[in-house]
Parts: sequence; structure tokens; C-alpha cells
Amino acid sequence: MRVIIVKDYEEMSRKAAKIVSDRLHRKLDLVLGLSTGSTSVGMYQELIKAHKEKGLNFSKVRTFNLDEYCGLSPDHPQSYHYFMWYNLFNHINIKPENVYIPRGEVENAEAFCNWYEQKIKEEGGIDLQILGIGRDGHIGFNEPGSSLGSRTRIKTLTEETVEDNSRFFERKEDVPRYAITMGLGTISEARECLLLASGANKAEAVKRCIEGPVSAETTASLLQLHPKVIIVVDEEAAKNLKRKDYYRYAERMAEKLEVR
Ligand code: GLP
Repeated sequence: MRVIIVKDYEEMSRKAAKIVSDRLHRKLDLVLGLSTGSTSVGMYQELIKAHKEKGLNFSKVRTFNLDEYCGLSPDHPQSYHYFMWYNLFNHINIKPENVYIPRGEVENAEAFCNWYEQKIKEEGGIDLQILGIGRDGHIGFNEPGSSLGSRTRIKTLTEETVEDNSRFFERKEDVPRYAITMGLGTISEARECLLLASGANKAEAVKRCIEGPVSAETTASLLQLHPKVIIVVDEEAAKNLKRKDYYRYAERMAEKLEVR
């Protein structure tokens, strides 16, 4: 697990976008797992900039989003479909047929979830999965208590998550209570994971994710078992980490070695 501590949200966004573009330069037909939420917006802006100014090419990229609210249509302004087109896809040269986002309105959710899992496999599996983290330590919408081996399915959101996400809705009552999310087993199969966190309200979740026990209580802690994880956190989000100095030192040493 590589932990990179940066100054603030802007630096986190630039660092994350650099990692994504490096991977994309190495593999044009990269399969990206994508996240929504305010944490990833800055990184998407940096990627748009790299596309417009440096010709970063998304024409062969395939993307799979982590999750979507149940009951929201793709054109609902708070749906994750809308979020992705508004914040990224409309501004880069990705082919619409290469974009996969769970559908919030489906007749047969189980069949849809199986199809989604199958599609990820058919496209060769996810090369790089981008993740944010909820205040309760969730990744995707895998709330505390989720099975560590779970696959794409419907989850009931916790009160805390509904509360946190209500800032995007007019009224708290409008926040959906269910979501379709990739499971923890699904996320674990990505070849590489990149988790981002910014701000003091994420500090406790970040600490439990990196330095706590691996437990379904903090589903992000599952990343400790993954062979290739990069975590980019700003100072505020890193403030509770016990081994902060070591992570900084290790990054400096790695730069000297030029191993990454
Ligand atoms: C939601 C999403 C997560 C995201 C989290 C944090 O719960 N399902 O994927 O990581 O929100 O969101 P934010 O970045 O807005 O804090």
C-alpha cells in the first residue's frame, strides 16, 4: 500500500490525474473503474485539461462506474449518470458505447447486476479502480457490514450516508435509500486501486482504512489485502495517521530509487 500525503484538494486532484494519465499512456485501451462524489471532481477537471491541452486520448478507454442510486433515471440531475456526463464524459473523446454505469431503474435488479459483472469480465477486467471514501469508511456504496466477498447488488444506505449525500438534494427525503453498487469482491479484482480523500471529515475513515484492522466495519480496510493500492490524501484527511512521517519518508526514498 502506497500512501501519498499532499497539501490540499488541488494537489490531490493533480496527483491522481497524473497517475491515471500515466496508466493511459501505457495502455490506450485502459479499463477504468470510476467513482462519483465531490472528491473526484477535481481529478476529472485535471483529466479534461490534459485531454484539451495535451491530447490525452480516451478513444479506446472503457469505463465502469462503481454505483448508482436506485430509482433515479439517467437524466436526473442527482443521478451518477448525470454526474459522470456533466463532470467528465461530455468533455473528453470517450465513445458512449464504452461507458458503463449501473442503471438505477431496472425491472430485474439481480439480472442487471449479473450482467454488469459479466460485462466487466468481457472487457478484460478493471485495470485501475478510482475510489472515494465515505465518512463511515465505505467504498462504492458498500456500507459497514457488507460481505468482503460481495458482488454487484443492491445495498440499503445507512442514515449517515443519506445525511452526507443530502447536501446534493433539495430535501433529505429526496435522497434514495437504496443503491446498486459493485461489491467488495468486484472491487478487489481490479488490478490496481487508487483511493482519494480530502478534508478533516474523512480523517477518521482514512485512519481506519489504512491503519485499522481489516474489517467489514470499515469496508475500505479491505484494500490492505490488495496487492496494488495507491492512496492519495491531503494533510487534513491524513491528520490522524500514526505513521504519517514514515509514509512521507517512504515516498522520498522511492523517488530516489525511481522505482515507480
Ligand atoms: C458516495 C459514493 C462513494 C463516494 C462517497 C464520498 O457514498 N457512493 O463512491 O466515495 O460518496 O463522497 P464525497 O467525495 O462527495 O465525499
